Amino acid sequence: MFQPVKIAPSILSADFMNLEDEIRTIERGGAGYVHVDVMDGHFVPNLTIGVPHVKQLSRITELPLDVHLMIANPLEQLPWFIEAGADMLTVHAETLEGQWLERAVSLIHDGGAQACVALKPNTPADVLSTAIADLDMVLVMSVEPGFSGQGYIEGSEDKIAEVAEMAKAAGNDGLLIEVDGGIGVKTVERVCVAGADVIVCGNAVYAADDPGAAIKEIEALGNAARQKALSAHAVG
Ligand code: DX5
Ligand code: ZN
Repeated sequence: MFQPVKIAPSILSADFMNLEDEIRTIERGGAGYVHVDVMDGHFVPNLTIGVPHVKQLSRITELPLDVHLMIANPLEQLPWFIEAGADMLTVHAETLEGQWLERAVSLIHDGGAQACVALKPNTPADVLSTAIADLDMVLVMSVEPGFSGQGYIEGSEDKIAEVAEMAKAAGNDGLLIEVDGGIGVKTVERVCVAGADVIVCGNAVYAADDPGAAIKEIEALGNAARQKALSAHAVG
């Protein structure tokens, strides 16, 4: 069945001095989530925002907060982010060896949030093999995490297709696949054909002259590509 894609604008590219207006702009534009990039200066070189900001964001918007933790110690901090209002909480597989990944997923669910695991570009999808059945979402990074405005890494769509296959094999039909990094009008179609459901856009939305129109355009292209792939699949 056809499921429309959702756009998750990343506020990393927004004007932080006018953040409330920037949130209203994407609400009016039809965003599905607010993507919040939390960076600690250790797991990634950059440093951004944290728990107090998520708390304030949750007070001013009804949009679900999609909180992407790029931090070295997610197990310690994830309860704080849930308490602050994160609806979807993403931890990086590279920060959670072995059974700690499943532990993190349980902690997120126990806190009442949805659980997502992110993969850096060089991390193979099979690190998810034991966790995938319990996940709500998988985030496939299509740039090295740390900065907005980078170019899409060619071939990232192959990993999206691989995750989609793994989810099917594990019987997790409701799994969402999110893609993050360098997505805009030029790259959205290929990731949607491969199976992406949630599209993170930083610069493609916030650096556009009309962010609302950019959301609608990227969404329409993604949906058309998805619909086409679905029809081709049904015929073939
Ligand atoms: C990068 C972040 C992304 C980033 C996306 O580490 O996770 O969410 O803000 O920005 P664009 O869409 O500009 O690549
Ligand atoms: Zn992100």
